[in-house]
Amino acid sequence: MRHGYYEFQHRTKIMAGDLALEKIPAELKSMEVRHPMILSDRGLEQTGTLKIVLHALEEGGIRPQCIDTDIPRDSSLSSVKRLAGEYREKKCDCIVAVGGGSVLDTAKGVRMVLSQNTKDLTHLAGCESLKKGKEIPFAAIPTTAGTGSESTLVAVIKNDKSKIKMEYISYYLQPDIAVLDVRMTQTLPKRLTASTGMDALCHAIEAYTCIQKNPLSDAYAFAAIEMIRDHLFTAVQWGGKKESRLAMANASMMAGAAFSNSMVGIIHAIGHALGGVCHVPHGDAMNILLPHGMKYNYKVCREDYAKLLLPLAGPEVYAKTPEKERAKETIRIVINMRKKLHRICGLPTHLREAGVKPEDFEKVAETAINDGAMIVNPRAAGIEDVLKILAKAY
Ligand SMILES: [Fe+2]
Repeated sequence: MRHGYYEFQHRTKIMAGDLALEKIPAELKSMEVRHPMILSDRGLEQTGTLKIVLHALEEGGIRPQCIDTDIPRDSSLSSVKRLAGEYREKKCDCIVAVGGGSVLDTAKGVRMVLSQNTKDLTHLAGCESLKKGKEIPFAAIPTTAGTGSESTLVAVIKNDKSKIKMEYISYYLQPDIAVLDVRMTQTLPKRLTASTGMDALCHAIEAYTCIQKNPLSDAYAFAAIEMIRDHLFTAVQWGGKKESRLAMANASMMAGAAFSNSMVGIIHAIGHALGGVCHVPHGDAMNILLPHGMKYNYKVCREDYAKLLLPLAGPEVYAKTPEKERAKETIRIVINMRKKLHRICGLPTHLREAGVKPEDFEKVAETAINDGAMIVNPRAAGIEDVLKILAKAY
């Protein structure tokens, strides 16, 4: 907490663990709704993941009013508009979203249109532009363990015309319920488990070092890192291990709650730019940039990085590492995690492996310094600084 004052809100009810999906019907009924719009994507429909949710709803006496799986890979304003129209037309009374970051962000967008009673979301972009509006009960069921979108107050939705990814930040975007059930992530491939897990780690580390950090975001970030340490590699290598899948789902949700109330920093600022300019998948960008961003912030984050050695490496390593060495050891461990993930599933550790070309750097740097996450980074950065980071990460 660097300015004395802070705000923290985590209004989402977490339903996590065995048979969590089966608890949804009673929860919806307690909110006096029973006609959900189900949002998901084609992939989850084909793999049977969506069917598990539908079955749990039906068993509890909830029959979807409509099911729409036509959601693009990048959530977009046009699909949000279309889906909001469908919600009204089919007279739904709540939203149940099943998917990764894109589906959940689309659902947040649909809920925004309906609750704010607007046709156009463009003027609501940015920080805290929303009023409470009409209540639209919303259950988020993540199928990856990384974005934390089920507990965040952030939605990223692409403007189809300008191609710009619009960022919406408001406490009114947090879902009413987040359902963490291992049946949703158990079949996630190794590489996606790894990249989304590293995204969660970035959320926790950046939340812990961001200028808006506070005692509660610290607690969530710290606990998330411990769980990632203990469970990420098991989840990647032995995806069927329920304990590790659930731990990663919890870690992702907690890291989401942490950064929602603290924000992120330079790693996300550059990562967003790499996504927009070079289409690097978010988790891959996070994995590549993490140690480079940490090295850049080292000067001002040494104490925090030293403290993070405890959750990241465990008490034994922490105790035997001299105090002066702890911050560097934290970065070294992050580098080793990346090497190990690269060996296991080929997760890229360099920008060149992700198809980025040096001629893209200028545009990426320009975009990154204008990203909202850059404002809250603990160390100021200009174009030259970002270019140096990109060169090192190449
Ligand atoms: Fe992220």
